[in-house]
Amino acid sequence: MIAGVDHIGIAVHSIEEARRFWEDLGLEVAAIEEVAEEGVRVAMLPVGGTRIELLEPTREDSAIARFLATRGPGIHHVCMASDDVDDDDASLRAKGHRLIRDAPSPGAGGSRVQFIHPKSAGGVLVELAEHAAGGHAP
Ligand code: CO
Repeated sequence: MIAGVDHIGIAVHSIEEARRFWEDLGLEVAAIEEVAEEGVRVAMLPVGGTRIELLEPTREDSAIARFLATRGPGIHHVCMASDDVDDDDASLRAKGHRLIRDAPSPGAGGSRVQFIHPKSAGGVLVELAEHAAGGHAP
């Protein structure tokens, strides 16, 4: 079941440049984490019950680098908080939707995540995240 909007992922060329607008708006960077397997640095800015997630590529062949090359900076994905990502995965598959990974897999901060293909979601890349303690990743 979906409990809310976990975060909004935004592709940026540089976290150092992009964070300034969000900080001017009053948000604060709570953590910066590098996810080496995905070739990305992630800055998390909590706000209300959700987060803005700035995604900066660390390699030319990463998904975020390819996104920036073809689309430029902007919204990359919307992540919905799930209380049971395996159940949501199975239910979407049963309804004929296209999921990106074969099964939910480990994400940032001990979460488990899955992605829904934009072709199934009106052009939006949708992430589902289930957090270990039912809360947000740090
Ligand atoms: Co995300």
